[in-house]
Amino acid sequence: MAAHAAPPLPAPNYDESAVGEVVLPDPLRGPDGTVVTTADAWRRVARPHQLALLETHVYGRRLPPRPVTVADGGVEEVAVSLAGGLPATRVQARLRLGDGPNARLVDVLLYLPRGATRAASPGPAGGGPGRVPVFLELNFRGNHAQHGDPGIRLSTSWMPKDDAAGIVDHRATEASRGVNARRWPVEALVGRGFGMATAYCGDIFPDRADGRPDSVLVSLGRPVDGALPPDEPGAIGAWAWGLSRILDWLVTLPEVDPARVAVVGHSRLGKTALWAGACDERFAMVVSNNSGCGGAALSRRNFGETVAVITERFPHWFCPAFAGYAGRERELPCDQHTLLAMAAPRPLYVSSATEDLWADPRGEFLAAVAASPAWRLFGLEGLDAAVPPRPDESIGDRVGYHTRTGAHDILLEDWTFFTDFATRTIPAAR
Ligand code: GCU
Repeated sequence: MAAHAAPPLPAPNYDESAVGEVVLPDPLRGPDGTVVTTADAWRRVARPHQLALLETHVYGRRLPPRPVTVADGGVEEVAVSLAGGLPATRVQARLRLGDGPNARLVDVLLYLPRGATRAASPGPAGGGPGRVPVFLELNFRGNHAQHGDPGIRLSTSWMPKDDAAGIVDHRATEASRGVNARRWPVEALVGRGFGMATAYCGDIFPDRADGRPDSVLVSLGRPVDGALPPDEPGAIGAWAWGLSRILDWLVTLPEVDPARVAVVGHSRLGKTALWAGACDERFAMVVSNNSGCGGAALSRRNFGETVAVITERFPHWFCPAFAGYAGRERELPCDQHTLLAMAAPRPLYVSSATEDLWADPRGEFLAAVAASPAWRLFGLEGLDAAVPPRPDESIGDRVGYHTRTGAHDILLEDWTFFTDFATRTIPAAR
């Protein structure tokens, strides 16, 4: 007898007229159903409730902090001259996240503008002139893939199959150097006074359905096989936790302004940046690039990728409960605008790309608009627009948005908008 085959997944819808009416849950609602009207009630009542809904139904329970230490080899700081003779400092450290024999080691790479102050002690607000703002982002193929600098340590971690990235037998090779450099324009950002920090997501949770036993979840004492609890975190929860641990270390560096570390992510790692920013309010600004389904795009819109497809193809990203909403998205007690609202009152930036219909650019824009009441509670402007801006035009004061012309990617044009926005919204303390 033939084995039972799973029913085929429905073809994605790309017809706006077939999306239907979308009624969203109110992101300002508290546990007793009351919609809060003050910033204080939001902080105390509605935000914790909405965050708990996201934990229970989408990403899984937040993981507790653990100590971070610098592993053997210490922190390597080298003066480098980047393209165009730009002076910078390259910092590399191997961090041990947590303790015990199963603690994971994560390689962090950071470029700093050479002039960054090595302040003896933090200023009164923990920041101060001379210390630099930093964009922290997880990457897909190892730190060495982010830039052509031959001094970057080549990752020895497991990588997904990717011939174009020079991956052989699931390991990076010399041919992997700089393959994703277009996504991480170090010169442009360091030249504008920003630090750029990155780490490979696979050091925290290898991005595969059976990656759990090789992830940080082991040392955190989480179950890694068998039937998992419905609110058990997966890769996104683990990656977000890893971002917070890297932040723990970053803020100890004298050159880094601890009050100005922005978390950024592209695609699956954009979903992760949003969840990291929701879980950890020390991130001063949150940036989602082309994060799509399970990121900035509304799940209730039947457009592009759906909950059914994402939980089938990537069963390890979310908590098991999320898959239960496949085809029942309208029964979710939350939606992705509530995730965006978690960033309030901090600055939030959402970016889409015109050709990236899989990620539902319009659904990302509408989520940012629907999240905006959270900022208004604080007397801040949300995204107040009826229609998305023209491609390549950035709008929004505290909640920013643009649609870049082109494909699913994160490029210099996107980063330019992020840095403009950061310059306006997280200026240095005086
Ligand atoms: C797939 C997946 C998306 C994800 C993307 C990525 O396309 O369906 O949800 O965002 O990979 O991470 O590149």
